[in-house]
Amino acid sequence: MGLSPSMVIWYLRRPVVWGELIRGGARRMRGPVPDERPAASARCAELAVPREQAAEALGFELVDVTELEEYQRARKLLAERGVHVAGAGDTAMLYSACLGTRPGSVLETGVAHGLSSLAILLALSSNGSGCLTSIDMPYRGSSDDAYVGQAVPQDLRSGWTLLRVPDRRGLSRATKSGPFDVVHYDSDKTRAGREFAYPRLWSMLRSGGVFLSDDVGDDLAFVEFAASVGVTPTIWRKADGGDFVGGFSKP
Ligand SMILES: C[S@@+](CC[C@H](N)C(=O)[O-])C[C@H]1O[C@@H](n2cnc3c(N)ncnc32)[C@H](O)[C@@H]1O
Repeated sequence: MGLSPSMVIWYLRRPVVWGELIRGGARRMRGPVPDERPAASARCAELAVPREQAAEALGFELVDVTELEEYQRARKLLAERGVHVAGAGDTAMLYSACLGTRPGSVLETGVAHGLSSLAILLALSSNGSGCLTSIDMPYRGSSDDAYVGQAVPQDLRSGWTLLRVPDRRGLSRATKSGPFDVVHYDSDKTRAGREFAYPRLWSMLRSGGVFLSDDVGDDLAFVEFAASVGVTPTIWRKADGGDFVGGFSKP
């Protein structure tokens, strides 16, 4: 499906996303991509384990960030602003990974309203150490530059670097802040996007670090990438029983 004229104008006004516009156009010209979702979901369903077990396999205990007052305050703020929260990652798993492994540095792609960033920063704040680098391009269709990451309160922002660029630029900039102890992928959900980012995230991940990716049932890129680097992926469903999330540790 093509872009609406207003969306084309949105892209044209922002040189930082021109590369994404061109890549999307080229993809559309190549024709429809095969739908891997049925095969990927079936594979994930075969591999999926309960979330507590997944956390244990990755080396930490599952703690529910959504019960924290700071998290609930952020949800309330988003609701008051009329922000529809959809597509958030598994924030409890992110919080738990950062609480349990006490990372010095964390990298995430895909911020949107900022609940994943908030979960990570709450854990780092509780640990008393660690910093987060996040990558997200301007939010498609929004003219509000403060939209991305708006759930993160001012008092948690000192250890946070938000790179407001697409992954293709952000990941190369982020290498300067690496290596990382935890990485989380939740941005470009195309196969091409994952194939670009996964190897780069992997190379920036310290040995013993945790690699997490959202929506791994969209296509086969995650399970194939795990096989290509010789690790067994741990896969689980989000708390609402919906989409699949995956992770593994780097040997
Ligand atoms: C599902 S949302 C992220 C949700 C967030 N991780 C959370 O759990 O609250 C996906 C985000 O990825 C961003 N995104 C999509 N394609 C991207 C790209 N190529 N580079 C950078 N960000 C991208 C979108 O702008 C959007 O904000």
